[in-house]
Amino acid sequence: MVMPSIDDTKIVTIERHILNEQRTYPEATGVLTYLLYDIALAGKVIASQTTRAGLAEILGRTGNINVQGEEVMKLDELADRMIFNLNNHTNRLAVMASEEQEDILRIPEQYGTGKYVLLYDPLDGSSNIDFNVSIGTIFAIYNRKTESGLGTLEDCLQKGKDMVAAGYMIYGASTMLVYTSGRGVHGFTLDPSVGEFLLTHPNIRIPEIPRYFSANQAYMKYWSEGVRRFTRYLQGVEKDDAPPKSLSLRYIGSMVADFHRNLLAGGIFYYPADSKDPRYPNGKLRLIYEGAPLSFIAQQAGGYGSDGYRNLLDIQPESLHQRVPMFIGNIELVEKAEEYIRKFD
Ligand code: AHG
Ligand code: MN
Ligand code: MN
Repeated sequence: MVMPSIDDTKIVTIERHILNEQRTYPEATGVLTYLLYDIALAGKVIASQTTRAGLAEILGRTGNINVQGEEVMKLDELADRMIFNLNNHTNRLAVMASEEQEDILRIPEQYGTGKYVLLYDPLDGSSNIDFNVSIGTIFAIYNRKTESGLGTLEDCLQKGKDMVAAGYMIYGASTMLVYTSGRGVHGFTLDPSVGEFLLTHPNIRIPEIPRYFSANQAYMKYWSEGVRRFTRYLQGVEKDDAPPKSLSLRYIGSMVADFHRNLLAGGIFYYPADSKDPRYPNGKLRLIYEGAPLSFIAQQAGGYGSDGYRNLLDIQPESLHQRVPMFIGNIELVEKAEEYIRKFD
């Protein structure tokens, strides 16, 4: 294989890309740029661990149960600690919140606070870790609302439409970082030989014609009539309502991986409200560090994210780990879900 020589490939690192983006904001201070670097660095470190999980004794469970009531995998804990420790001393953040931690994560008092808020799911798709299936990290960045000092819960509970930036890392056949700061969605692939995220997917737009739908149909019996009929529509068996051609089902059980495939190929991911567990009538997935950041990215790529009734980005979060039903992907498919729910629920 002829390797492209440096001069004939336009190599854009994520650092250069973010700097170029921030240059278009005259008031930009560069802090967001550095914050995104820090997150990319955390992604590189986590990636280095996920690719050798089986070798480094970090497969399997820790034996702890987290605030979600789920067993914490060793890689969940490692990713969670990595992101916190890489960001808690940079004077860029007022406060953080993690899927793995019950309460907000205060900046240690020996460090200064900054103007941003970082919310994150350190490792998404944990149930897949031991089976070598793609997993990911999801993050959302907001401006702090409080004036100064240590950030508060209020800083973490903001509507998705006020998000400053969002993104995810996906640890799969390659490691990618996909982010938006409100000016389109851009994808970078980690080149392990140089340890850089290089621009490979500029200005991602969700394709007009959707190719996939992603949902855990094993739970169909727990779904509402509207969601069941929407699913039958996607399957092409709902009378007098033909779905888009060539829709196929793909469901990996890692939201980031399902979302990423649908973003690039067109499609919808949904995790509806279900009666499976009376403690969680709104389904399994969380608003502030799963649904909202991925909806912001979808919207920036020409798609849409809804809770079945309204734009997910309009929802005012009431609590850190609040769960919401979510339908995210091609606008037409998400609006079709809303239509079925309106009509039959
Ligand atoms: P997490 O590992 O962060 O808890 O997220 C797992 C989520 C999401 O990634 C995935 O889509 C969903 O759980 C799968 O849930 P089911 O097994 O209930 O389908
Ligand atoms: Mn998750
Ligand atoms: Mn997680």
